[in-house]
Amino acid sequence: MTEKTLVLIKPDAVERNLIGNILIEYERNGLKILDMKLIKASIEVAEKHYAEHKEKPFFSRLVSYLTRSPLVVLILEGENAISRVRSLNGTTDPGKSPDNTIRALYGLSLSENTVHASDSQESADRERAIWFG
Ligand code: CMP
Repeated sequence: MTEKTLVLIKPDAVERNLIGNILIEYERNGLKILDMKLIKASIEVAEKHYAEHKEKPFFSRLVSYLTRSPLVVLILEGENAISRVRSLNGTTDPGKSPDNTIRALYGLSLSENTVHASDSQESADRERAIWFG
């Protein structure tokens, strides 16, 4: 099934000039970039995006990180894009992520883990509305 998913190339990656390296991983795996923008996220948008983590002890750190410098917001389209992009990204903790996943290659830590991707169709719809209106 052709799906669309939302990806963030997070501030730690943009700061280290990794946008191109990360886009190559998606494009060479057949995912199409449908929309893309470089923006500095507002606190309001970051809090909405991570609403499910509101009660977590790391929530304020997460919002500070996401808003500290620009990030890239992408819509990717492809066959089973939601699960395929999650596989390309790897696991939340870069130290435990399989070899050659984006987080294993570039992630710094459990919080500064370089990329985000929607985890379901419902999240993809919700996150697209937050970032693209
Ligand atoms: P992401 O896939 O964007 O979804 C939630 C984010 O919260 C996750 O990537 C990490 O950036 C961050 N995160 C998850 N668990 C922790 C944790 N234990 N400590 C700090 N940050 C975390």
